[in-house]
Amino acid sequence: MNRHCISQVTAFIDGSAIYGSDQGTARKLQEFSGGRLMMQLTPDNRTLLPPSTNPNDGCNRETERLRGRYCFAAGDARANENLHLTTMHLLWARQHNRVAEQLAKINPSWDDETLYEESRRIVGAQLQHITYQEFIPIILGEQETNLRDLRPLKSGYRQWTADTDESGTDPSVANSFAAAAFRFAHTLLPGLMKVTDEQRGTSSYVELHRMLFNPYSLYAEGGVKNSVTSATRNVIQMTSTHVTSQLTNHLFEDPVANVTVPCGLDLVSLNIQRGRDHGLPGYTKWREYCELGKVESFSDLEGHLDPQALQDISSLYKSVHDIDLYTGALAELPKADGIVGPTFTCLIADQFVRLQKGDRFWYEMSGQPHSFTKGNIIVDDQMIQKLYFNRILITDFNSFRIEF
Ligand code: HEM
Repeated sequence: MNRHCISQVTAFIDGSAIYGSDQGTARKLQEFSGGRLMMQLTPDNRTLLPPSTNPNDGCNRETERLRGRYCFAAGDARANENLHLTTMHLLWARQHNRVAEQLAKINPSWDDETLYEESRRIVGAQLQHITYQEFIPIILGEQETNLRDLRPLKSGYRQWTADTDESGTDPSVANSFAAAAFRFAHTLLPGLMKVTDEQRGTSSYVELHRMLFNPYSLYAEGGVKNSVTSATRNVIQMTSTHVTSQLTNHLFEDPVANVTVPCGLDLVSLNIQRGRDHGLPGYTKWREYCELGKVESFSDLEGHLDPQALQDISSLYKSVHDIDLYTGALAELPKADGIVGPTFTCLIADQFVRLQKGDRFWYEMSGQPHSFTKGNIIVDDQMIQKLYFNRILITDFNSFRIEF
């Protein structure tokens, strides 16, 4: 069950998608002044991510290049993959610069590198906090979140035990998580994304595939705001065996051409094939691993899988042991208060436990040289004070005004 693949990016939830997983990328994204990340300025003084000028980055288009507009550079090579993802990268980069500017004001003696590292430390903590406070309980449900002790503490610190714990806590990303379990979210995506232009008070719908590798609307006045509104106001689908045809027939079709012939890629096939490439054991093995019981025949899965899906699966697979992890787990009935079934709940929870307990730099860990302590910062700004002392609450994050 533990065959691993080498990962190109760091596993830790440490903001590396914003900053880069290696020093070369990180350096390219720094401004080297005031601890800030590099930004490009629009003619009307809005900050956007720096341009990615490589014509072969899979996103840039000649017509846009001639207008001086490029796709964007960020800490992760996939930042332009969909408009909302690019927007998220931009918001976090702006957040870094906002924190750096606040820190510079209250610590005038800090040099660029100190401001960069300290800002990064706060932003990484915020990212960890939001992930575990806001995101995980929705995916896994309250019960599993509490059972696994994943919820951020209300007071006190976590103790680092992995050095003394003989079994150790391996924080690396499991093959089953990357190649199957965490791809569950592909089933949540709507085929038509509602785009609201708040200024004009109008709404329209965009086919999902037209938002892929097409971040140019961020250059327009109101573009970032419209994207955030669209990302936050769209209703996501339930986890299920259904995936929009925008992703099963039209994935990565040319986003601007008026193509009506279905000739794009199929994300579900890619997911299933990726699981096979990566040597993932079949679904029944994972049920056993998660202590959900031994399965010997298709009928053993009755009551655990959606009945129609089970019927389709049993007509497509010769043996119950051939069922791919992605296919079988997505067909499971969701657990009571989460949105995924028991097998994906088990694999996702296991990963997030290891990412937390196995991270020496986790923001709630005490007793480390880098731990957040009362004494390690000169505090005279209430907002930064809250960030350091009041457990980086989401309300504090919200109190950072987001400029569009
Ligand atoms: C419009 C939205 C999205 C698109 C177009 C998209 C597309 C893709 C594509 C093309 C791949 C690579 C498939 C392969 O060749 O193996 C992929 C991988 C993946 N996706 Fe998505 N995805 C989207 C949203 C999401 C979301 C919301 C999540 C989870 C919250 C997610 C989780 C993953 C994971 C974990 C992988 C594997 C990453 C790796 O290990 O390389 N995706 N996605």
